[in-house]
Amino acid sequence: MSKPVVLVAEELSPAGIALLEEDFEVRSTDGSDRSQLLPALAEADALIVRSATKVDAEAIASAPRLQVVARAGVGLDNVDVPAATKAGVLVVNAPTSNIVSAAEQAITLLLANARNTAPAHNALVNGEWKRSKYTGVELYDKTVGVLGLGRIGVLVAQRLSAFGVRLLAYDPYVQAARAAQIGVQLVTLDELLERSDFITVHLPKTKDTLGLIGEAELRKVKPNVRIVNAARGGIVDEEALAAAIREGRVAGAGIDVFATEPTTSSPLFGLDNVLVTPHLGASTHEAQEKAGTQVARSVKLALSGEFVPDA
Ligand code: NAD
Ligand code: MLT
Repeated sequence: MSKPVVLVAEELSPAGIALLEEDFEVRSTDGSDRSQLLPALAEADALIVRSATKVDAEAIASAPRLQVVARAGVGLDNVDVPAATKAGVLVVNAPTSNIVSAAEQAITLLLANARNTAPAHNALVNGEWKRSKYTGVELYDKTVGVLGLGRIGVLVAQRLSAFGVRLLAYDPYVQAARAAQIGVQLVTLDELLERSDFITVHLPKTKDTLGLIGEAELRKVKPNVRIVNAARGGIVDEEALAAAIREGRVAGAGIDVFATEPTTSSPLFGLDNVLVTPHLGASTHEAQEKAGTQVARSVKLALSGEFVPDA
């Protein structure tokens, strides 16, 4: 009897692939190329993706044998979960695999932005020794606003508290007592915008969060705020942020995620005080190893008809 087929549509850790190969035929494809993905889905019993593959209703309809879609990471915004559920396809993710890496990436962007690390580096390697031009700011005694106090938001808050900052958060789904336990004061979105010297975004991409930080919100911020988004592109409007930076209302930004990905152009590119990375929040050896092995285990359970617990 032929083995079930697991289609791996994006890079997966060797440890994850090795686990899958114990029981399944593992095939790979480029999930961002529809002309490869759709035909490859015809024989797939399981599909494994990261964030570049759009698992929409068309993809699900192209996969008559599909039993499980596994997202090797946190966000499920690239998977049409209702369409999958309607087709009887289970959707699983690896919700804790990369949270430490994502939190560390947000803090990296925040600190590097506060100290002008990227433009100072670029200037120096291009022959300019400029010290006063790249004077930065300390975190100590500043106010940091965390948008979304979930798994990653909490890790960021816990780590930043060691810098001696005041911590605010906006998250209507979190109890004030839970936030207080980790030294965070829950506030309204407007209060967070008005009081924060740094804002860091850790929200899922949903219809409510898309464009949550747009032109109107960026007019309410404290002068010289610095904004980090290592959650999802589009939650902070790139055009509006670029305008706020050009007009001096926002001092700088650290951006890991973009409304359209992959991208090589954004209104934010070319602004000296904006540090950008190509969606690297989860790109550590540790996170990829965990994501790969967690989804491989979930696929094994799902294809043998067993209960798949939260990873
Ligand atoms: P989580 O679900 O644990 O936390 C999200 C929090 O946002 C929750 O506490 C929830 O109550 C809150 N929230 C939801 N809707 C809200 C709204 N409308 N207003 C205010 N708060 C709201 O998720 P997480 O694991 O902390 O991940 C956060 C984000 O980071 C996700 O978008 C995820 O996809 C992204 N992420 C990015 C990378 C990367 O590579 N850059 C890596 C991992 C995760
Ligand atoms: C996630 O949501 O897990 C991240 O964006 C990381 C990824 O896309 O791999």
